[in-house]
Amino acid sequence: MHDKLDPENLDPLRPGPPGVKAMNCHFDYLFARLQELVPGKRIVLLTDSNLAGLYTAAFSGHHLISFPAGESNKNQQTVDQVIRELIRMEAGKDTVLVGVGGGVVTDITGFVAAVYMRGIPFGLVPTSILAMVDAAIGGKNGIDVGIYKNLLGTIRQPGFVVYDYSFLNTLPVSEWVNGFAEVIKHACIRDANLFAMLERYSLHDFQGNLVLTAELVEKNVAIKSAVVHLDEFEKGERKILNFGHTIGHAIENLVGMPHGHAISIGMTAACNLSEKMGGLHFEEAKKVIRLLAKYHLPVDMEADHEKVFDVIRMDKKREGEDLNFILIDKIGHAFIMPLALETLRHHLKEIL
Ligand SMILES: NC(=O)c1ccc[n+]([C@@H]2O[C@H](COP(=O)([O-])OP(=O)(O)OC[C@H]3O[C@@H](n4cnc5c(N)ncnc54)[C@H](O)[C@@H]3O)[C@@H](O)[C@H]2O)c1
Repeated sequence: MHDKLDPENLDPLRPGPPGVKAMNCHFDYLFARLQELVPGKRIVLLTDSNLAGLYTAAFSGHHLISFPAGESNKNQQTVDQVIRELIRMEAGKDTVLVGVGGGVVTDITGFVAAVYMRGIPFGLVPTSILAMVDAAIGGKNGIDVGIYKNLLGTIRQPGFVVYDYSFLNTLPVSEWVNGFAEVIKHACIRDANLFAMLERYSLHDFQGNLVLTAELVEKNVAIKSAVVHLDEFEKGERKILNFGHTIGHAIENLVGMPHGHAISIGMTAACNLSEKMGGLHFEEAKKVIRLLAKYHLPVDMEADHEKVFDVIRMDKKREGEDLNFILIDKIGHAFIMPLALETLRHHLKEIL
């Protein structure tokens, strides 16, 4: 599945933690040195309107395609627009499509690169916390079709992922908050030490200290890479990354709230369910909920349980009358529990 860009010939400034090498990540790498990663290749940058406006000077010197920012543009129409631009530029197999932006940009980049000419090489430069710790890692991409999120997509690994932390200087606070929902998720499912680190510091600390943020991002990349490495095509272990996402996605679809907020409410509900059915100690559940609130994420909301249940019934992860639900039995350890839909319906009222 890997593109032909040979990672062994690349010269990462810092190799990063174990497991990450397979994902071809280049930490603390200057965006200005992008061409060195793909000598002799033609780079076409793909970005959104916000980044194109903020980084005009940095992007000059490369071919550039930009599309209007926002999740509502992660669709076939944008894909068609990008493909028309690629044709106009006479982009071919010698072209490397490089997505510079948040998760919307990295998803569209991976998708277009997978289908254009049956596949061209691509690389990613994630610029939001969420894209750095999650969307750019693992090779999944997707576009939305109406209310159905990520209904179309492929799994195909990028040739490289470049981390230039200076992009974070312009990231709005609301997007830092969004990204930390996934950071807290990683801590809950895989890493009690990361959880303790998050308890020790605050959002303000991370925003004001990119060295500390780099350490945090790299820990998260290692966690996601390790999980994906075990199970690239989500047959088993990779499902634990969906902690908080079954209920979270349903709420996101229904209420249209930011992804991180919806996932935070989903994780709160999953902790409550973990306490009821998964052996999670009451105090540990409280610790998770306290941490979410500390990072300015919502932990409850008024929701119509039946409507939430109706959306969950349509979940991609449903198998017959069961749903694979992700629970934790302690902070740092998640497991998959097949749950009858009716059991979940019964509990939804109490756990939301
Ligand atoms: N493929 C995967 O495995 C995966 C995993 C998680 C999420 N996702 C997808 O990621 C998307 C969410 O990602 P996101 O939260 O990054 O959304 P996004 O791409 O919409 O970015 C959020 C906002 O921040 C802006 N932005 C990004 N970086 C910036 C910077 N450095 N300076 C200023 N503004 C900046 C963007 O222009 C946008 O307005 C969703 O579509 C989700 O489905 C994919």
